Amino acid sequence: MTREESTMSKADILMTAPMMPVVVDALEKASNLHRLWEHPDRESFLREVGPRIRGVATSTLFGRMDASLFESLPNLEIVSSFGVGYDNVDVAEAAKRGVIVTNTPDVLNDEVADLTLGLLLSTLRKIPQADRYLREGKWLKAPFPLSPTLRERKIGIVGLGRIGKAIAKRLEGFGVSISYHGRTRQEDVAYTYHPTLVGMAEACDVLIVITPGGAGTKHLINADVLKALGPTGVLINVARGSVVDEQALIDALKSGTILTAGLDVYDDEPRVPQELIDMEHVVLLPHIASGSVHTRNAMGQLVADNLIAWFNGKGPLTPVAETPYTKA
Ligand code: NAP
Ligand code: 8YV
Repeated sequence: MTREESTMSKADILMTAPMMPVVVDALEKASNLHRLWEHPDRESFLREVGPRIRGVATSTLFGRMDASLFESLPNLEIVSSFGVGYDNVDVAEAAKRGVIVTNTPDVLNDEVADLTLGLLLSTLRKIPQADRYLREGKWLKAPFPLSPTLRERKIGIVGLGRIGKAIAKRLEGFGVSISYHGRTRQEDVAYTYHPTLVGMAEACDVLIVITPGGAGTKHLINADVLKALGPTGVLINVARGSVVDEQALIDALKSGTILTAGLDVYDDEPRVPQELIDMEHVVLLPHIASGSVHTRNAMGQLVADNLIAWFNGKGPLTPVAETPYTKA
């Protein structure tokens, strides 16, 4: 086979936004890769190339796969999305069109759970504030003030899925009480189940949020939940900004309705409300829970592997639940 013939037999894949070298290199070898962002006249590019596109590589943070993009790609077979959360992809539209959607589950569970514990301890023990205190020379004048504690806390996990369970496993080592809330009780776990979120917030003094985003969980954490969490309560959000009513959270932090919060995700990333930035007692991270070289490479490899497996006739490796695919 000549080089030209072998290129012609490869599938056309569209990348919606710049991705890691591990994805680009693998897809450049295995496909005819098109980079959407490199075409200033997106409409005419899609008109010309759209009908040839059979696969898409996209990402949680950039390059939303909405109904209009699906419309431009009439022969699309598969969307491979970077990230375990896939609220960036219109899965209902994909299912309607018979398009497979894949995400990157499991390879990031431990990384995200590690970071969540780091954020919890940082928030309670004020680790970033203590670091700033030392650097500003304040320790020379007085010791750092005593902090709140993780000791004797009751932790409620909102969303005991793959990552929620990895967080719970780590919390066991800290000797704290663990409960969870989700839509369904899980018979095979020993943690206390709370059928209502307000009920769990009343019974706990830390909530760790690790559900999917999207319409189903929008503003799950609202003013009522924060009130139930109470004045010693701590909110940790590593899920999606949309899961928390951000204005209700700001009000609760200002009024002392809850003690503090540790956040990795926000409503309108990368923009974070100035009111949160101005609060010295909260800990704010720039959506880094899976953000190590090791784990992001594993996620990127899975994005490429899903597309390569599909176009080699082996089926998708990690299709999402809404996807119209049943294993033979
Ligand atoms: P998963 O295994 O699907 O678990 C999701 C859990 O959420 C399930 O236990 C589910 O339980 C629960 N849930 C879903 N809808 C709910 C609702 N309306 N009310 C209460 N609980 C609900 O997902 P995962 O792999 O653990 O990932 C979870 C999410 O974490 C991702 O979708 C993503 O948004 C987020 N995430 C963030 C980062 C970051 O960088 N900050 C990194 C990775 C993941 P039921 O079905 O019983 O309700
Ligand atoms: C990533 C995430 O930060 O997996 C997810 O759902 O939110 C994170 O792991 C994100 O996918 C980066 O694009």
